[in-house]
Amino acid sequence: MIAERLYRTPPGVALGELDLIPDPGARSFVLQMRAGRFHGFVVRKGEALKGYVDRCPHQGLPLAQQHDAYLAADGEVIQCSWHGAVFAVEDGACLGGPCVGSALTPWPVAVRDGVIVTE
Ligand code: FES
Repeated sequence: MIAERLYRTPPGVALGELDLIPDPGARSFVLQMRAGRFHGFVVRKGEALKGYVDRCPHQGLPLAQQHDAYLAADGEVIQCSWHGAVFAVEDGACLGGPCVGSALTPWPVAVRDGVIVTE
């Protein structure tokens, strides 16, 4: 049976220590919940985090074909590995590629006492 895909998570779920994510860098997270499975990723720059649902607005695919490879080579933008769509880290807006005008779906996360948690 295929688990239902979820696009949001409840608040207060601890994802792990902040240092799980390179600085700067990104990491995928998969949460298996009773209602289904959530796929997201978090981008880190220093203490600042931005989380997004791991689903490209172009064709609905997960962005990274290689584990945790969500950032472009310059580390400044998010890049989908399938057809090259580029997204702003700050708000997920598509800046270039086949889905300009769309955006990644935010996944609110924060750091509390050194631990990444969902909001
Ligand atoms: S699926 Fe992401 S750019 Fe096409």
